[in-house]
Amino acid sequence: MQSKNILIIGANGQLGSVLTKELQSIYGKESVIASDVFLDTEFDGIFEIIDATDLDKINKIINKYSIKEIYHLAAILSAKGEEKPLWTWDLNIKMMLNVFEASRLNKVNKVFFPSSIAVFGDKAQLINTPQSAFLNPSTVYGISKAAGENWAQYYFTKYGLDIRSIRYPGIIGYQSMPGGGTTDYAVDIYHSAVKNEIFSCFLDSETKLPMMFMSDAIRSTIELMQSPIENIKIRTSYNLAGMSFSPNQIYNEIKKSYPDFKIEYETDFRQTIADKWPKSIDDKQARNDWGWKPKFDLTSMTSIMLEKLKEKYNKQV
Ligand code: SER
Repeated sequence: MQSKNILIIGANGQLGSVLTKELQSIYGKESVIASDVFLDTEFDGIFEIIDATDLDKINKIINKYSIKEIYHLAAILSAKGEEKPLWTWDLNIKMMLNVFEASRLNKVNKVFFPSSIAVFGDKAQLINTPQSAFLNPSTVYGISKAAGENWAQYYFTKYGLDIRSIRYPGIIGYQSMPGGGTTDYAVDIYHSAVKNEIFSCFLDSETKLPMMFMSDAIRSTIELMQSPIENIKIRTSYNLAGMSFSPNQIYNEIKKSYPDFKIEYETDFRQTIADKWPKSIDDKQARNDWGWKPKFDLTSMTSIMLEKLKEKYNKQV
């Protein structure tokens, strides 16, 4: 594989930590520069401290390593963002614009900017939500992602900066923990099952949301970034689907392996967020433009999640 210098911003996060390892294995450790606001002691590779609100620091690192590609994964998510709305807006927008501007100034070839199902609201068709649905996000996180999508398109149209983006559903993996999202329950529930704990769910049993297994999320990101430029027709952000399920459905799937597993429902403010999000996503544009196809459904994901987490917790005893 041809080497290129890649910078990941937010490399300690749920997605960033797994994506960093995958990019290292494709392009070589010497080509991947991970960054975040602190160094994770277990990290293996090249690492730089970057606070993405600091434009000078981003510029310096791009120049130091002749960076050609950036994955900007740092953001405050939907639930945490509601605790401090203005701070969330300032942070998410500042970091994103710094990355776009530094990429433009330093002639970075390609940028990945994640968007989210949080850009949709109750004015969209919430079953099989179309690519071009009306966007009326209800959270600051969603508002910042909807603005980010438009900025991405602006930088592409005005400056030719090749920014590519996916509207991720909830991402579920065994390697890392999410933080501050409305879909986080779907990771936590597997940990509770394997630890033989009763799971307290903050969404009600029938709240269906779009979700995706980590390996599909990583593969989609890399496939989008590797696609020829002429295949990228959407310059805001691509709808992407993996699977859709409710807490009751994931619970019943886990029960096939853990028949004594118990769940309790105690909904909180995250229920209100989830009620305004799509239940399922129409991703035919991504399928047509760059050949997207998910591999995992609830059953296949659950079997890997339980097996890997069992291994992890067994090692700890
Ligand atoms: N997983 C995210 C959240 O729940 C959605 O993008 O905030």
